[in-house]
Amino acid sequence: MPSRDWNKTWDRGYEWSQGGDEWTGQAEYCGQPYEAWKQSILDTFAAPYLTPQSVALEVAPGRGRWTEFLVRHAAKLHLFDLNPSCIEACRQRFADDDHVTFCVNDGASLPGAEDEAVDFVWSYDSFVHMEADTIAAYLGEFARVLRPGGRAVIHHAGRRHAMLPLGFLIRYGSLPRYLYKLLSMKRDTMGWPDGKRSVVSRQLFASLALKAGLEVECQVDSWGDKGQFDCKRFNDVVTVMKKSAASRG
Ligand SMILES: C[S@@+](CC[C@H](N)C(=O)[O-])C[C@H]1O[C@@H](n2cnc3c(N)ncnc32)[C@H](O)[C@@H]1O
Repeated sequence: MPSRDWNKTWDRGYEWSQGGDEWTGQAEYCGQPYEAWKQSILDTFAAPYLTPQSVALEVAPGRGRWTEFLVRHAAKLHLFDLNPSCIEACRQRFADDDHVTFCVNDGASLPGAEDEAVDFVWSYDSFVHMEADTIAAYLGEFARVLRPGGRAVIHHAGRRHAMLPLGFLIRYGSLPRYLYKLLSMKRDTMGWPDGKRSVVSRQLFASLALKAGLEVECQVDSWGDKGQFDCKRFNDVVTVMKKSAASRG
């Protein structure tokens, strides 16, 4: 299972050959050019929630693949990543941008982020590797730091909900892991791997968001005027959440 410890591997063996832009598989799966697919995500899930006055926060930016856009569209941007080398790479990449802050965190909390001071929380291609306990901790933090009316957009795993209790199989080597992949994915994905998706379903994510006090506005796995763009390669989901005015503390 992709534990917090496993997620430290992004600091160790991974090459980051193109700073994250090497992950073109989701675009290929839906038959779209990578750049168009990437832009469609930003146009659909980030741009509508940002104004030039926005305070944004990104969890797990890696080398800054999505950060590049957020930096240009927010008045302030706070970056949190578990791995020091990722934060260091972002610090160098965005060295000229005085409105960005950088923090190596514990993989579950947002130290230094003020209560009700953030308009927009973003994370793509990172929560897919986080297990439910980590996600629950972050959702509690999002509910704390978001202003009433603020949004959080998170891309995460979407295994079959009914199969979550069998998730322990993942720990027992390649054959049980393969069996679990077959049982927990809605359609066969590309070959053997399951993209190291965590044992999380769309429904589990929504229930954790509700428990944290966030309203789930939508959960989608395709977008675009013809639904031509998607994140279905490994059955992922994008969840858009809102902190409602009623949740003001
Ligand atoms: C697959 S990379 C994706 C990076 C970036 N979001 C992108 O799409 O290019 C996963 C990132 O998540 C970070 N990460 C993993 N678990 C984390 C956690 N619990 N808290 C914060 N960052 C985490 C890793 O350090 C790495 O930067």
